[in-house]
Order: sequence, then C-alpha cells, then structure tokens
Amino acid sequence: MGYQAKFRVWRGAGRPDETITATEADGALHDYEVEVNEGEVVLDVIHRLQQTQTPDLAVRWNCKAGKCGSCSAEVNGKPRLMCMTRMSTFDEAETVTVTPIRTFPLIRDLVTDVSYNYEKAREMPAFAPPPGVEPGEYRMQQVDVERSQEFRKCIECFLCQNTCHVVRDHEENKPEFSGPRLFIRAAELDMHPLDDRADRKEFAQAEQGIGYCNITKCCSEVCPEHIHITDNAIIPMKERVVDRKYDPITWLGSKIGRR
Ligand code: FES
Repeated sequence: MGYQAKFRVWRGAGRPDETITATEADGALHDYEVEVNEGEVVLDVIHRLQQTQTPDLAVRWNCKAGKCGSCSAEVNGKPRLMCMTRMSTFDEAETVTVTPIRTFPLIRDLVTDVSYNYEKAREMPAFAPPPGVEPGEYRMQQVDVERSQEFRKCIECFLCQNTCHVVRDHEENKPEFSGPRLFIRAAELDMHPLDDRADRKEFAQAEQGIGYCNITKCCSEVCPEHIHITDNAIIPMKERVVDRKYDPITWLGSKIGRR
C-alpha cells in the first residue's frame, strides 16, 4: 500500500550545517510530502520528488543497484547509499531527512565535489610487476588472490571517506591524509606478491598519513560492501609500519634488501 511520506531535503549550495544561518542563498532544508509505494528505496522517492515537485533538484546516481557508488548521501544523519536504503526501514509517520555527504565541498543540493579522492588516488604509485614480466605472464598463488579480493569490492562511494573523523570536520588534514579508501588500495598492493614498484608501508606512513587513523572503525561500519577496512587493511598496514621501524630483525631484513 502506498502512503505519503514526509521528506526533508537539503536544497542550495551552502553547507547543511546548523551552526550557520541557513539563508535561501546558502541553502536550507525543505519539507515535502511525497508518494511512496511498496518496495521503494530512498532514491525512488527522490526521483519522484524531481518528477513532480522539484525538477531542478540536483542528485547524482547511475546504477540504482548499489554498484556505481554515485548516490551517497546522509539519510537521517547516517551515511548511506540512497539506492540501497529501503523505505520500509522507516516508520511511515517519520520525517526522512536527506542531506549531502558532508566531508566534500557542496556543489548543489545533494551533489558534492569528490575530487579530493581522485587527487589522493593519483598520488598512489601504480602497480608494477618485476622487470621482464609481461602481462599474461603474471603467476600468483590462489591464497594471494583471495587475500586482497575483499579490497577490490570497493565501489568508490566514498562513504568511508565521508565518515572518517580525521577529515570530516578537519579540512586542514586533507593535504596529509588520504583516507580509508586509499588505505585499502595501499594494503591491496602491499599484499600483491608481484608488486615491485614501491614500499607501500613507507608510503602509507609518510605520504598517506595512516598514522592519523586511530582505528575507530567508523569507515568499516558504513561500507556498503562490508569490507573490513580497519581490521583487514589499516591495522595490518599499521603493524607492518611499526615492525619496520621498531622490530630489529625486520629492520635488519629491510636494510639487506628484504621487503
Ligand atoms: Fe549506483 Fe546507488 S545509484 S550505487
């Protein structure tokens, strides 16, 4: 059975921050009543809002299947994919508040500029096999394939980056901090037996700012792919950084050329 849901949606180009005065020029939360039908998700309701009441509402989406990572937003204050958030999880009388993800600059309405993530990705030295090994000649054990498979499930929705407190409220940390999405990329390459280009541990420590992370696991909690970002990527990388620095045998091994 359908019903009329109460939606509160951020409109405008200012920050959805209640500590600033929200004028029409800056942006504000707007209230709507929208039809909801059985089986629908938040993105369906946002689309109906566009079709019937707010044709200029800016929203980014693509697959509507939880795979492109485009429709990230905060729904009732929680970082979520709108296309994977079922309306049946809310009480029919409840007001559903949809605001843009907060860690990145707002472009308009529900759309943010996520280029910070791509800039950090560009800083990462790319995978490179040992000299003389051509594509098609790569050989690795199945156990090594499976070990990093989890990290390759990332859909780059950037909900982990959005929720990470190191940058969420601290714009000043962004130059030195790459964030959980890029830590799993570093871990994936560090675990790759054929990656011969760089010392990923040193890079994570010196260039990515992995030391800023104090393993609160907020990133893992919001990951729609259920990647164990903290337990399987960040903590192992931190441990290896510490081993490299303080364990005398590991230190000696690194000095005589072992990785
Ligand atoms: Fe692709 Fe939601 S629209 S993940």
